Amino acid sequence: MVDLMGLDRAASIDDLRRMARRRIPRFAFDLVDGGAESERNLRRNSEAFEEVTLTPRYMVDVSKIDTRATVLGQNFDAPFGMAPIGMLNAFWPDADLTLARLCKRENIPYVASSAASTTLEELAEAADGNGWFQLYVSGDPKVTEGLVARAEAADYKVMMVTADVPAAGKRDRDIRNQLAVPFRITPEVLLQLALHPRWSLETLCHGKPNIANYADLLKAATSYADVQKTLITPGFTWEDLQRLRDRWKGRLLVKGILHPQDAVQCADMGCDGIVVSNHGGRQVAFGPPTIEALPAIAEAVQGRMAIIVDSGVRRGVDLLRAKALGADFALAGRALAYGVGAGGRAGANRAMEILKLELVRALGQLGVPDFEAVGPSQLTARAPGF
Ligand SMILES: Cc1cc2nc3c(=O)[nH]c(=O)nc-3n(C[C@H](O)[C@H](O)[C@H](O)COP(=O)(O)O)c2cc1C
Repeated sequence: MVDLMGLDRAASIDDLRRMARRRIPRFAFDLVDGGAESERNLRRNSEAFEEVTLTPRYMVDVSKIDTRATVLGQNFDAPFGMAPIGMLNAFWPDADLTLARLCKRENIPYVASSAASTTLEELAEAADGNGWFQLYVSGDPKVTEGLVARAEAADYKVMMVTADVPAAGKRDRDIRNQLAVPFRITPEVLLQLALHPRWSLETLCHGKPNIANYADLLKAATSYADVQKTLITPGFTWEDLQRLRDRWKGRLLVKGILHPQDAVQCADMGCDGIVVSNHGGRQVAFGPPTIEALPAIAEAVQGRMAIIVDSGVRRGVDLLRAKALGADFALAGRALAYGVGAGGRAGANRAMEILKLELVRALGQLGVPDFEAVGPSQLTARAPGF
């Protein structure tokens, strides 16, 4: 097919990010691209991945590369899935369904966000067995139970409870862009819409994106504070998690763990795994990059449950770095989102292709033909004192 968008010239996820930035109005691009406050964590997440060095071994037969990985008893064709992202259709129309279908096709997990712009039922259908459901615990227990019951009815086998939003992150770019509920058309917004006619037209055709699972509840919302109260609660505690553990019969993951003792407590409570995550640097600017938090957590968990990591995955080799430092699996958020932003379905395909090609190449270069065999022995040994 003719590549009118120039996607074939995108060599990396960073290239796709730049293409997406050109196609999307600033307020919508920043909504996905931005991080908390100074954005230190956002920057450090991917820098810290880059700092992990692996030492290649040569003269190993790498003519056949196997990227398959198993997590939570499910077999996948690659060791990563799509992280839950709320309101992604504001980034590019139909982004949710595009990515859910892509994950099904590639046999990797797709995590449907509570705050997605598409209902969890539609996403379960599109991901067709590859869907996991991410839960935000609401201040209203009826809202939480409603979502859990719907996820159960939609036959999700894995529920991922997000723990790292006791308060919404302060994202300075969104404040500068005057993002508000209800959405306001300011002169700056009008200018951005005019400068990005393709986005404006497609968004017009698909309808204004909303938070679909709560659409009825949010109709009455007049402020961002109203939206937050429906979605999240500062009162979410370990007792609530225990109730969810008892309530949910499928696999249960806790997302947003950064402290080894929290990880151990999740294992003690019978959780099936954790996602070591700082929410892609969107919650706080002062915390550790996840790849730096991972080794102590892996050490404390001692293989008692699955460890998944996210925040900062931008290259295929990052999946090997995560595995070498103790993770079983990873999630990519913005990496695949930038693909959709750069070119819709074709862009999502390109992002997936880039990550997969980089992964296969890195396994070959490292001298480990089988992803599951990557471990601490691939980490570069440091001389004492370094
Ligand atoms: C725009 C945006 C929206 C997000 N929405 C959610 C969400 O609804 N639920 C959740 O648990 N995490 C959410 N996250 C965090 C992601 O699941 C994931 O932890 C993060 O994107 C990983 O970092 P990365 O983007 O560097 O890969 C969101 C992230 C972004 C960028």
